[in-house]
Amino acid sequence: MKQLETNRLILRSFLLEDLEDLYEYAKKEEIGPMAGWKPHESKEETKNILEMFMNGQIYAIVLKKNNKVIGSLGVHKDSYKSGIVSREIGYVLDSDYWGQEIIVEAVNEVLKYLFEEEDVDLVRVSHYTFNKRSKRVIEKSGFSYDGTIKNASARYDGVLIDLCMYSMTKEQYENRNVDRGTDYTLLVEKMKSLLDGDSNVIAKLSNASALLNEELERLNWVGFYLEENDNLVLGPFQGKVACTKIPFGKGVCGTSAIKDETMLVVDVHKFPGHIACDSASNSEIVIPLHNKQNKVVGVLDIDSPYIGRFKEEDKIGLELVAKVIEESCFY
Ligand code: SME
Repeated sequence: MKQLETNRLILRSFLLEDLEDLYEYAKKEEIGPMAGWKPHESKEETKNILEMFMNGQIYAIVLKKNNKVIGSLGVHKDSYKSGIVSREIGYVLDSDYWGQEIIVEAVNEVLKYLFEEEDVDLVRVSHYTFNKRSKRVIEKSGFSYDGTIKNASARYDGVLIDLCMYSMTKEQYENRNVDRGTDYTLLVEKMKSLLDGDSNVIAKLSNASALLNEELERLNWVGFYLEENDNLVLGPFQGKVACTKIPFGKGVCGTSAIKDETMLVVDVHKFPGHIACDSASNSEIVIPLHNKQNKVVGVLDIDSPYIGRFKEEDKIGLELVAKVIEESCFY
């Protein structure tokens, strides 16, 4: 199997020394049952599975940050399709790493490899009806829904479970892969009509963060910090809980506010003093907001789990969006 690499991950074959890492998550109650298997009860059991993985087309998902195996991603011959080159993928992720788009990142790389290097015609994936996290991964990765097989299999505990099936053809993959970018002209118009009216600042900024979260792809946090006695204080946002107070001059937000400049940070880990609120963040853009006297009254902060997510065109577009917000909210 060819080793694959993404921003945060290495996808490689399993090795005997992965036993500890594999057992650590395979024994957890919340993991196996989601994919229909019983949590492992002993290291012996995990060792048998590990040997099977080592002989099969199963990638170990290794997190570069701590060099740990945190999951697996299998690429199997597809028994449902005939006459075309088809593969079925399946994955498992340690629950300690849920919510960080790790599987989406791994699946994307595997799709790229299968369609661009292995010349596969179709990739199939499925999830059990109750596995909502897997459903989200599948939808985010751009698969289309094909149907549900009722009573597809008996779980280890004997319960019959339904399987939801999805696929992606090479053509769908190629269209999905076109980076359409954001239509900022349209986003500016949407923001103007959203903020048109006499609601208060909190209401407007709340809706503004919700609109940005809906319209911009590949984000994990978007929101506002507002000036209060030379500090930036957390305002309306969408995303995980965040730090509530950032002094002017500190972090990406505080630097943007004190310099009165947009900060486009390609890789936050290389930004001295970056404040990590959500560990999933890998890149960030912060735009200062002004009142009518041109004084900085806050910032718009947008974070992404992808390194290099924000480009010059995003900076230009988002500065226009920020202007609309300033004009409507700050006097
Ligand atoms: N990363 C920011 C802090 C805010 S959170 O990311 C929401 C900074 O360095 O200023």
